[in-house]
Amino acid sequence: MAVIELRGIRRQYLIGDITVNALRGIDLDVQKGEFLAIMGPSGSGKSTLMNTLGCLDKPTGGSYILDGLETSKASPDEFADIRNKRIGFVFQGFNLLARTSAIENVELPLFYDRSGKKINARERAAAALQDVGLGDRLDHTPNQLSGGQQQRVAIARAMVNDPAFILADEPTGNLDSEMSIEIMALFQELNDRGKTVVMVTHEPDVAVYCKRMITLRDGAIVSDTPITDRRNASGDLASWRKDNDHLSQGDRT
Ligand SMILES: Nc1ncnc2c1ncn2[C@@H]1O[C@H](COP(=O)(O)OP(=O)(O)O)[C@@H](O)[C@H]1O
Ligand SMILES: [Mg+2]
Repeated sequence: MAVIELRGIRRQYLIGDITVNALRGIDLDVQKGEFLAIMGPSGSGKSTLMNTLGCLDKPTGGSYILDGLETSKASPDEFADIRNKRIGFVFQGFNLLARTSAIENVELPLFYDRSGKKINARERAAAALQDVGLGDRLDHTPNQLSGGQQQRVAIARAMVNDPAFILADEPTGNLDSEMSIEIMALFQELNDRGKTVVMVTHEPDVAVYCKRMITLRDGAIVSDTPITDRRNASGDLASWRKDNDHLSQGDRT
């Protein structure tokens, strides 16, 4: 089943008299269980595509069917609902609330549910934190956690609504090598459990952990290839730690 179906997606920006074609007719299908890396040079349209996939921005042309729903026909409220319930966002800068515990950060998306069914928010948030290996850090605030742990809280927050897919924007951009591999190991584990992951990255080192890679150039997809020699991040993490024992500062939970 396709989680994402893009057909002829265009995005134009008008600046004065100038039209910028940020996306020029993108066709893309992402099936359930895929792990996709979106790559491309600066200015190629990655952020614009990411904003489209995340229902943060409506394209100026084409069709986007998310989890069977035609998003272009959605009202602004429905569009926001799709974004809050069906997409789990992970950002480069973690975007956690400071002075707010891990569990409260993870509970937040559950309170956007306007149906009023805030069933077991505490338990669901605790379970999500358990899933990312932070079951013993529920009451820690972001400044009491390492960067890798903060990103894991953000991933738990992204997962708590059981979204159709995880959308990650340079999720390892603010992390050192060890923590980056650790986060990729977590994404691989979630993906192995069936979660669909779409990740924007400009680092080839990170893309090797995905299953498929598309490359954008000038607002178009110029390549779309399976990653045949995909690397296993938990294996790489173990060897990295063995080789860099004296340097390692990562969290060993
Ligand atoms: N809000 C905007 N207004 C005008 N032009 C924009 C805007 N956002 C992006 N662009 C233009 O669209 C193109 C693609 O940008 P972007 O999606 O940010 O690429 P990337 O994330 O790959 O660097 C670029 O030419 C950029 O200048
Ligand atoms: Mg960008």
